[in-house]
Amino acid sequence: MANTTEYMLQTESVIKQYRQSDSVITAVNRVNIKIEKGEFVAIIGSSGSGKSTFLHICAGLDRANAGRIIIDGQEITKMGADQLGRFRGEKMGFIYQKHHLIPQFTALENILLPTVMCNKSDSSYQESLRELVECLGLSERLHHLPSELSGGQCQRVAIARALINNPQILFADEPTGNLDRTNADEVLRLLLKIRETRGQTLMMVTHDLDIAAKADRIFRMDNGILSLDRDYLGGNKKTIVSY
Ligand SMILES: Nc1ncnc2c1ncn2[C@@H]1O[C@H](COP(=O)(O)OP(=O)(O)O)[C@@H](O)[C@H]1O
Ligand SMILES: [Mg+2]
Repeated sequence: MANTTEYMLQTESVIKQYRQSDSVITAVNRVNIKIEKGEFVAIIGSSGSGKSTFLHICAGLDRANAGRIIIDGQEITKMGADQLGRFRGEKMGFIYQKHHLIPQFTALENILLPTVMCNKSDSSYQESLRELVECLGLSERLHHLPSELSGGQCQRVAIARALINNPQILFADEPTGNLDRTNADEVLRLLLKIRETRGQTLMMVTHDLDIAAKADRIFRMDNGILSLDRDYLGGNKKTIVSY
């Protein structure tokens, strides 16, 4: 079993509830997970089961009502907004189902946004930019606006934006859910190739079992409760007993 410093992400009894007039929805119900550095974890589960909520909370995009979230040894649930913002910019990347690119910005400007937010010097990201643009096949598209790009190209720009600061952990919420099969397969292939090169930890929500099968471990979210998906244990590449 890995010791604490080897975990990229640990959650302890994380709870998230939404209150609606007279009812309470427990979207995330006491979730514990430990993800090792460099691990690829997939989360599957039916619509409305709490996958997106959990991913957003782990990535510091939303706050839990209770519980602890520790990323690379640092408890983000204790951080104030400014500190968390900086920490996210340095450590984490997030890819949404929809690309969420800024429509008035070119592809290049969108990709470089996290470097601006983190006050990075030009020289610090040039290598990362060159590598991402080449790998994602974006060199001919850098000065186009999102409206001038295809869905697959927009998602490749979103991947480059998520990775430009070379974050240690990447969160992806159904990152190819909006694409047709051919584009989805290609975007996913590129994403996994980059991750392989950079050794990033990846936590991905997907409804696609072929994609999930590529993960080291598969978890299933069911009504806010996360558990290891034992049906798929046999397909795992690594044997990890930290859960
Ligand atoms: N902002 C919100 N306000 C109220 N309820 C929400 C909100 N976001 C999500 N929920 C509810 O929380 C549950 C989990 O949603 P979600 O995390 O989006 O599930 P999934 O990603 O697995 O489809 C659902 O019942 C959903 O309706
Ligand atoms: Mg979702």
